[in-house]
Amino acid sequence: MIIKKSFFSNPKNRSKEERFKYVNRSGAGLVPSKSYISYGSDYWDNPNLPMGYGGYVYDGRFAKNAKEILSYLNLTNKSKMLEIGCSRGFLMVEFDKLGISIKGIDISRYAIDTAHPLVAKNIKLVDASHVDIEGSYDVIICKDTLPHIKRERLPFLLTNINNHIVEGGCLIVDIKVAESNSCKELTARFDPTQLSILCEAEWCTLIERYIDKDVYASFSELF
Ligand SMILES: C[S@@+](CC[C@H](N)C(=O)[O-])C[C@H]1O[C@@H](n2cnc3c(N)ncnc32)[C@H](O)[C@@H]1O
Repeated sequence: MIIKKSFFSNPKNRSKEERFKYVNRSGAGLVPSKSYISYGSDYWDNPNLPMGYGGYVYDGRFAKNAKEILSYLNLTNKSKMLEIGCSRGFLMVEFDKLGISIKGIDISRYAIDTAHPLVAKNIKLVDASHVDIEGSYDVIICKDTLPHIKRERLPFLLTNINNHIVEGGCLIVDIKVAESNSCKELTARFDPTQLSILCEAEWCTLIERYIDKDVYASFSELF
């Protein structure tokens, strides 16, 4: 069952106006570097690019999100969590500080090599669109990760996720959506690492087809 619930808000995200300015300025779109497309240094740490993270440093921005998840789901130090697409582990750190065991997987070698030292040992380099998840979890989190998986691999990943959540456990997803064809086009131009640009209803249909656990889902538009 999908439960609409947002655990995440990030005041540091660019505004819609900034994104519009960028895609309008760059015409057909900037050709992103190999480093950007492969989630390397350009994606995370290049302040001169209008897209990407522009310099992703730990600042505790997810501390309150982790506390809210912990209290809302009544998690304890016996709970097991997995974050898919965990990047440098900045959300994981906050659960670790609260005494919750959390593992992470990510496809970015660069992010893992520069991960937060508190959780670096708990992050594995894994392409979640092709590799089976190890272990079973009370909570799996995909924060802004699913749109980065190729559309044809989503059934594999969602089935895999479903098989690795314990009975009574849940999935938390935070997903960027585009509600019209023109917004889909703008999103693709703005961020070519988004490989599945769908509207909210399309995501809900997909998730309901493959996940029979509770899913806490939040959706937001880039454009
Ligand atoms: C938009 S970033 C989100 C990062 C982080 N979850 C956050 O919200 O700040 C997308 C993340 O998904 C990861 N990712 C993309 N494709 C992946 C794949 N096939 N398997 C595992 N991780 C992947 C990227 O490396 C990146 O860390």
